Amino acid sequence: MAEEQAAPSGPDLAKGIALDDFVNGKLLGHVGSEDVLLVKAGDNVLAIGAHCTHYHGPLADGLVVGETVRCPWHHACFDLRTGDAVRAPALSPVARWRVARRDGRVFVGDKLDAATPRASAAAADPPKKIVIVGGGAAGFAAAEMLRRHGYRGSIILLSSDHAPPVDRPNLSKDYLAGTAPEDWVPLRPDAFYPENGIELRLNAEVVNIDTKARTVGLAGGEDLEYERLLLATGSEPVRLAIPGADPANIYTLRTLADCRAIIEASKGARRALVIGASFIGLETAAALRARHIEVHVVAPDATPMARVLGPQLGNLVRAIHEEHGVIFNLGDTVVAIDDRRATLKSGSAVDFDFVVAGIGVRPRLALAEGAGLKVDRGVSVDAYLQTSAPGVYAAGDIARWPDPYSGSPIRVEHWVVAERQGQAAALNMLGIEQRFDAVPFFWSQHYDLPINYVGHAEQWDEIAVEGSIEKKDCLVRFKHNGRTLAVASIFRDLASLGAELAMERGAAP
Ligand SMILES: Cc1cc2nc3c(=O)[nH]c(=O)nc-3n(C[C@H](O)[C@H](O)[C@H](O)COP(=O)(O)OP(=O)(O)OC[C@H]3O[C@@H](n4cnc5c(N)ncnc54)[C@H](O)[C@@H]3O)c2cc1C
Ligand code: FES
Repeated sequence: MAEEQAAPSGPDLAKGIALDDFVNGKLLGHVGSEDVLLVKAGDNVLAIGAHCTHYHGPLADGLVVGETVRCPWHHACFDLRTGDAVRAPALSPVARWRVARRDGRVFVGDKLDAATPRASAAAADPPKKIVIVGGGAAGFAAAEMLRRHGYRGSIILLSSDHAPPVDRPNLSKDYLAGTAPEDWVPLRPDAFYPENGIELRLNAEVVNIDTKARTVGLAGGEDLEYERLLLATGSEPVRLAIPGADPANIYTLRTLADCRAIIEASKGARRALVIGASFIGLETAAALRARHIEVHVVAPDATPMARVLGPQLGNLVRAIHEEHGVIFNLGDTVVAIDDRRATLKSGSAVDFDFVVAGIGVRPRLALAEGAGLKVDRGVSVDAYLQTSAPGVYAAGDIARWPDPYSGSPIRVEHWVVAERQGQAAALNMLGIEQRFDAVPFFWSQHYDLPINYVGHAEQWDEIAVEGSIEKKDCLVRFKHNGRTLAVASIFRDLASLGAELAMERGAAP
């Protein structure tokens, strides 16, 4: 992910470059020690930092759309003029440079100051008090976006977690594998919150909401008033309900504390049992293999992840894990756990030093239900992410929203969707009406195999493969009645970005 300090890329742009040298409207070079991407946008040439501020993705390989560029890795989007990160998962801007044109050549000059934050175009009377319940992807992104938009009122960010908002996807990948440094994990340093006037309250569990009085009640008895409220309580892992499955001896993975507990358990351990061949289960398996732990996976599925990715991609994922030494017991379930032995339905047994259960998550809906909000397998929200109660919004894993592309209300559990919904809800809470119409996107990483997925297909009647799944170079379309609902890809990032753009425009890719 983070790259080693490499030699600067391409030509020295301070010395000038011919417009004819651009390829597909882009050119990668450097100024001093920094990589700079030049982009032709209409008659203009704009210069920005060449690396995405999320995980350093190469923007030169991204997709230019109008005066923006989208990152090939996880589809963040940057404004070429301001450098602003206009779409998550990147939250910080890229640098930008002055560009001059003389005699058909382009010269990159000084670095420009950071663009001033967008002044809020909100209604004349913005709310004075915004309360956000949930310090995860959606809650954090909302708070950050409120301040980015120049909102000056009170923001209280309540989290039942004791860690500040973290980069949750990393907890099943590099951080768990031991290859990411500690400072990759927090979304922002601790000082960010006081410096930006965000009152982050950790270990703060909201136990009720009174939508008439516009208050939220905390576990300790305190009530807090709000004018606008964002609910972003996320999901919780499903616990294994079998004999011997004491939570103390079976780990689940949601929080930083969960992740640290698994890392602790892995020290000195020889063998781990992962229950469930879900994304989290298998990413955990990969991370534990990086720690040289023997990993057994037990799951009822015939093929891992087939329900989401189809059998062909599922088989590839399985093969890659097997190449890395993971031992699968598929079509089987754990029926009992006794000390360090799991008994399977098939009658066989797996011995282990510790167990991680990745058997799915459940959206945390209790607060919304208790407050009488409309709930339908998720908190029902409108296109502006407002719930059935005025002034109360919902975002992230709990929200079921009207998805324009599929034409159905959907709920997903994706990091990028949660962040983008948090950002859209922030603007809506300020009165800057913004429909949430982003096409769902998620990624998953297994060893060196990245899988990107755009759209949403709960079921399909055709899978069309372009390229080769075996060669790990493919675009896989999930279709229903001939219409593409979703596209999964491996090492076809530009095509994945193109599919996302087509779906945004209502066209099937
Ligand atoms: C280990 C792991 C890896 C993942 N990897 C990926 C990935 O690679 N790609 C991808 O697309 N998605 C991934 N996901 C899914 C993604 O992280 C979630 O979809 C996303 O975090 C959802 O964001 P959220 O804001 O809805 O909820 P969360 O990020 O879960 O945040 C919810 C917050 O609400 C707080 N909360 C809950 N109830 C209360 C309450 N009553 N009072 C106060 N606070 C409360 C919680 O403490 C937490 O801070 C991963 C998830 C996990 C666990
Ligand atoms: S590296 Fe650019 S979006 Fe992740």
